Amino acid sequence: MSATLKPKVLFIGFGHLAKSLLSKNLLNSVNIHALNSKGAIKNINLKKKISNIKNDYNYIFLLIRPNTFLTSGNQFQKYLSKETLVISCMAGVKLSTIEKTLKSKKIIRIMPNVMAYNSKSQTHIYMKNKNLFDNKLKKILSTFGTIINVRSEDQINFATSVFGSGPAFIAYIVNIFVKATKKLAKPFKMNEKDVIELFKNVLETNYSSKMLDEFVSSIASKKGTTKAGVNYIKSQNIEKIIYTTFQKAYKRAKEIDSEKKKAKY
Ligand SMILES: NC(=O)c1ccc[n+]([C@@H]2O[C@H](COP(=O)([O-])OP(=O)(O)OC[C@H]3O[C@@H](n4cnc5c(N)ncnc54)[C@H](OP(=O)(O)O)[C@@H]3O)[C@@H](O)[C@H]2O)c1
Repeated sequence: MSATLKPKVLFIGFGHLAKSLLSKNLLNSVNIHALNSKGAIKNINLKKKISNIKNDYNYIFLLIRPNTFLTSGNQFQKYLSKETLVISCMAGVKLSTIEKTLKSKKIIRIMPNVMAYNSKSQTHIYMKNKNLFDNKLKKILSTFGTIINVRSEDQINFATSVFGSGPAFIAYIVNIFVKATKKLAKPFKMNEKDVIELFKNVLETNYSSKMLDEFVSSIASKKGTTKAGVNYIKSQNIEKIIYTTFQKAYKRAKEIDSEKKKAKY
């Protein structure tokens, strides 16, 4: 597709998530400008600064932190035209708040994650008006990975906890595993890559909760080594710890919108 026919996209905010959305697929399908905290706009495809700003964007992605939007989101109204569809990636900020702040009804909420860079994000999407989701938008969002449509806005809070924050929880847990095995391996030589590979191998052969349960039972024979470890891990209430981790992130996502008291409309 020639550069002029590609949809024009503005990223408001160019931090961790924004940068991880920039897969080759996305850069091939759209022209991206990015606005930074100093009000400067850069053409990301051509890697150069833009001096004359036109508000002719087809899509605007909100990639600033919720607090930035809740306290001074109305400053972004000037980048919208009647045609612009706004795609909010922000955790917690409700559709109704974004509508009021930007004075637009053409808004959808999505919850991608940083794995979009490798087209591995499982992006949850919520909108009131289903007509906003056309094939052009589907093509753009598919560059992030798979798309999961949700019916209730609260499901975006769930997705924020499990699919937005979840990758960090998984990385933290795997790293605890790696560090613990390294500690145990002190007198011997151990390659940490082998332990990470072990995680991948277990998941490759077990892809449902039932299979994982059966997998544990098949290894944990009576009075054996696995049983000794499994009994201990169960006694430490790990289920409660993991559940509470997700619940805390979910509750945090739910309370963000009520922090808009200081917002200026
Ligand atoms: N990180 C994730 O994995 C993830 C996943 C799902 C959703 N989200 C959501 O994505 C949003 C961004 O998260 P993030 O982790 O990418 O945060 P981040 O790394 O802090 O990025 C925020 C960016 O916004 C810029 N910014 C601040 N004020 C601005 C303004 N007035 N105009 C334009 N840009 C401004 C910041 O620029 P400066 O650096 O110059 O201050 C920064 O580059 C959040 O709402 C979060 O809830 C994040």
